[in-house]
Amino acid sequence: MFGRVKSLDAILATAEKKSLHRSLGAFQLTMLGIGAVIGTGIFVLTAEAAQKAGPGMMLSFVIAGFVCAVAALCYAEMAAMVPVSGSAYTYSYAVMGELVAWMVGWALILEYAIAAGAVSVGWSGYFIGWLNSSFDLNVPYTLVRGPFDGGVINLPAMLIAAAVTALLIKGTKESATVNAVLVGVKILALTLFVILAIPVIKSGQFTPFAPLGFAGISGAAASIFFAYVGFDAVSTAAEETKNPQRNMPIGLIGSLAICTIFYMLVAAGVIGTVGAQPIYGPGGEALSPGTPALSQACTAIQENAVVCSKEALAWTLKQIGYPFVGWLVGAAAIIALPSVILMMMFGQTRIFFVMSRDGLLPEFFSKVHPRFHTPHIITLITGLFVTLFAAFFPVGLLADVSNSGTLFAFAAVSIAVMVLRKTDAGRHRPFRTPAIMITAPLSIAGCVYLFFSLSAVTIQLFFGWALIGLVVYYLYSRNRSHVGRGLMEVHESDADIPPAPGTT
Ligand code: ALA
Repeated sequence: MFGRVKSLDAILATAEKKSLHRSLGAFQLTMLGIGAVIGTGIFVLTAEAAQKAGPGMMLSFVIAGFVCAVAALCYAEMAAMVPVSGSAYTYSYAVMGELVAWMVGWALILEYAIAAGAVSVGWSGYFIGWLNSSFDLNVPYTLVRGPFDGGVINLPAMLIAAAVTALLIKGTKESATVNAVLVGVKILALTLFVILAIPVIKSGQFTPFAPLGFAGISGAAASIFFAYVGFDAVSTAAEETKNPQRNMPIGLIGSLAICTIFYMLVAAGVIGTVGAQPIYGPGGEALSPGTPALSQACTAIQENAVVCSKEALAWTLKQIGYPFVGWLVGAAAIIALPSVILMMMFGQTRIFFVMSRDGLLPEFFSKVHPRFHTPHIITLITGLFVTLFAAFFPVGLLADVSNSGTLFAFAAVSIAVMVLRKTDAGRHRPFRTPAIMITAPLSIAGCVYLFFSLSAVTIQLFFGWALIGLVVYYLYSRNRSHVGRGLMEVHESDADIPPAPGTT
């Protein structure tokens, strides 16, 4: 079962032949990480976390951040040692063999493509709120929300997903300068929020702290985990990094640390000012976010609670008397979130690209456009799916499903790091995960705990997806695998496709 292993040396030889220009330092990597991380999670899902945990969501942010931090330490060892594209998929291939790698790659489709859908829906919420406050324009829910959320189709979310797909196909890659500006915009928006909200916090808003108990806090942690996803995008730039040994871990952990501090402050700001108590159904039951029942309950109170808002931060600022700053924060989200969609979709195309190059997916997937030099076919397929997810599903469900795939991949990387310490102890490790025998098991346990704290529907969807993956593997991929067929040639072809957005 674990027999088909792609040798680390072959993988590294590929990386060396490609020799992309190594230009990124620790600072640029940290910016790249923050660019991919801060997005719908904090701007939108804060409201959903409040519905699940109440003020206890502060703790949810800490738990999710901690799991990410230990996972990032494991990621960093792998990313510095095997600085090639494909991240968790490639690491698993080298350490645990093809089947595990395939399942990880399959799960990463959830992580990236579905996350891109979630961020598109998040963007749509801010866009609609912003249209409303700018032009007093009230677009009917039918056109701006999916069927689970009191609407029919989410047109703005579809449009933004389609626009980002077009950009990726054309290869208008986001430059490092644009990324830095967008990171600045996001940081500024969150800083303004914190400066205005923290001084008017009332301690009474923090009680009852955990109205839905620890289960609520765990459930919210599993969902809010989404807010941290994306730091692994840093590892996809490993081949373009100067001195990855030093800079990769700084980029991964630095971006995570900065985001965690902001998230804690923003969460405290929301809870302490407008309150974050959940809304209950007629029978006193807590309603799940992204359901028609919550949508109706919200309509009944004229959406007058943060848990009802699709633009939680802008809404909070309006409530505490800063409508103009709320409008500005909305504008910041509208400007900056598309780059998160871009990063997620790019990550997806890179994973598909590498899987197709390994023979596990059809080879025409990795065709590179003659003029644009982009993998246009995979990008188009990815874009199509992202657009459909964005059109019909609520942001919370998409984020949760994406988290399930990410948690699986993070756990696999944490296992791979430990296994490789045993099986290839002598290999040079530019960065060593500190206290690996504690860190990696903590990361694995944390991922398992968060995974099982996701909603039952999400867990079922994950296993359904995994089952489809197994069928595809045994019916298609296994026989075509290059490793299986003994084709271990060193590829150079992905030198043709542009480097990660925001890296050059
Ligand atoms: N962490 C990213 C976000 O919150 C995916 O949008």
